[in-house]
Amino acid sequence: MTERTVQIAVLVGSLRKASINRELAQVAIDNAPAGVTVRIVDGLAALPFYNEDDDQGAVHQGVATVRDEIAAADAVLLVTPEYNGTLPAVLKNAIDWLSRPYGAGAMTGKPVGVIGAALGQYAGTWSRQDTRKSVGIAGGRVIEDVEVGIATATLGEHGVSDPAVVEQVVAAVERLVSEVAVAA
Ligand SMILES: Cc1cc2nc3c(=O)[nH]c(=O)nc-3n(C[C@H](O)[C@H](O)[C@H](O)COP(=O)(O)O)c2cc1C
Repeated sequence: MTERTVQIAVLVGSLRKASINRELAQVAIDNAPAGVTVRIVDGLAALPFYNEDDDQGAVHQGVATVRDEIAAADAVLLVTPEYNGTLPAVLKNAIDWLSRPYGAGAMTGKPVGVIGAALGQYAGTWSRQDTRKSVGIAGGRVIEDVEVGIATATLGEHGVSDPAVVEQVVAAVERLVSEVAVAA
């Protein structure tokens, strides 16, 4: 019997072309364990700001697509920098769309991990804490010990391809996958 591939959907909290967090997400994709597919859900920049008036009946196509892609995943990995001591608005906006319908949003009950890279010495810890809080309220099952915080100033010439960083990202993905197995 062939086992089904575990699907991990990734939301990246930076829209920057040369985003280190996007590179970190790519590390997760490139080093996914056997039987696991990791995929970035794009299109966060095209989401309108959350507005309850626009969340009745047929929603914006970009919202519908992001909701569908998250709903189809077994687990969700958020990879985010810190902006002014918290998570970037683009990621918060996506979480808000994913939190509705209340109690039945696309992340409901799914294991969710939060990792990231930021410039400051605390490597975006506040951002990850706030992201976890928000995701938990939005219905996700936050896996607290999926925790990687990369202080970008400490990265060497290989950036996030450094084996020590790759090892942490792989461990985070494996931990998330273990929660899928628990839930299955
Ligand atoms: C608007 C803005 C606010 C920022 N605030 C913080 C902050 O509070 N803490 C921090 O560690 N880094 C902060 N930074 C620096 C980011 O962590 C850094 O630019 C990071 O590389 C951005 O992620 P990216 O490379 O994935 O785009 C801020 C950057 C911007 C543009």
